[in-house]
Amino acid sequence: MTKPAATTRQGGTNPAGATRNGGTVPDLPGHRDVIPGAGPAPRPGERATLRLRDAGDDEPARYAPEWLQLREPADAAARSYDLLDPLRIRLANPPRRADGVVVHDIGCGTGSMGRWLAPRLDGAQHWVLHDRDPYLLHFAAVASPRSAADGSHVTAETRRGDVARLTPDALSGASLVTASALLDVLTREEVGALAAACTGAGCPALLTLSVAGRVELTEPHPLDREIAEAFNAHQRRGGLLGPDAVTVAAEVFAEHGATVRIAPSPWRLGPGQAALTEQWLRGWVGAAVEERPELASRADGYLTERLKACAAGELRVVVHHSDLLALCRPVDGAA
Ligand SMILES: C[S@@+](CC[C@H](N)C(=O)[O-])C[C@H]1O[C@@H](n2cnc3c(N)ncnc32)[C@H](O)[C@@H]1O
Repeated sequence: MTKPAATTRQGGTNPAGATRNGGTVPDLPGHRDVIPGAGPAPRPGERATLRLRDAGDDEPARYAPEWLQLREPADAAARSYDLLDPLRIRLANPPRRADGVVVHDIGCGTGSMGRWLAPRLDGAQHWVLHDRDPYLLHFAAVASPRSAADGSHVTAETRRGDVARLTPDALSGASLVTASALLDVLTREEVGALAAACTGAGCPALLTLSVAGRVELTEPHPLDREIAEAFNAHQRRGGLLGPDAVTVAAEVFAEHGATVRIAPSPWRLGPGQAALTEQWLRGWVGAAVEERPELASRADGYLTERLKACAAGELRVVVHHSDLLALCRPVDGAA
């Protein structure tokens, strides 16, 4: 499969993040160098609060657990409930394992998907938490969900690996595959591998919180559109899907014979989410300027103004995302 150019991995559903760039991002006011999807990096000598650590040039960007923690409540509030009933119906249908359902969460990060979904499903569950980052897997293991909606036991294990190498065998016995804030940081080939693995294993997939490429800020500003377009272009760097993720995933799963449903899952950020909004803004504008350096001087004033409104509790932002449920055809022996 084709790997994207190694420079940046945009922030998944968290549009926070331009790249560490060795100087290509202009010195925006209050701008700290930022990592895609991982929030700002500290200034030299500062304690790293949002960024994990340096990734080498040929290593993919890594996500700071603090950033994933910061966004978790907004993610939880955004997730669509409309896809849960069809999912529950599918999971209730035989063949069902006597010992409950097995859920594979791909790109689990610190495990926020499981903490949200496990208590909303009845019955015993075993979660297999996949990520390529062992550091995040450690956080996912310690904070894994323990209890289902009806009080049944929930257990978890972690597996390190790349979604590009996921096979139907790796999902053997799976009842469900989940992912959250993942599709938009994948390439078409990687989503193809995911769809092929789910189809081969005959299990449904709930793929949540993919960026839709649309943002609404109150009050609107003449520069909003240009920043949004530059940010979206930045997200598509290196063949990553960015805002095309859900459309592409829907196509790919449908080509594999799955029935696909999509539902909106917007972040609605207001004064109660000021810390997240601030980090998101810095990353959103920073990525846009990295993509289009000619925006720098105007973006400078724009960011100052937006941050001031955010600090004053006057800024509201809707960051549109989509959730996707793919009901793949069961195969013999699928759980
Ligand atoms: C934006 S974070 C989302 C984490 C978590 N699902 C959440 O919602 O908080 C994306 C996660 O996907 C993982 N990831 C990205 N690309 C991956 C790949 N090709 N294979 C495995 N994991 C990947 C990253 O390490 C990171 O944990």
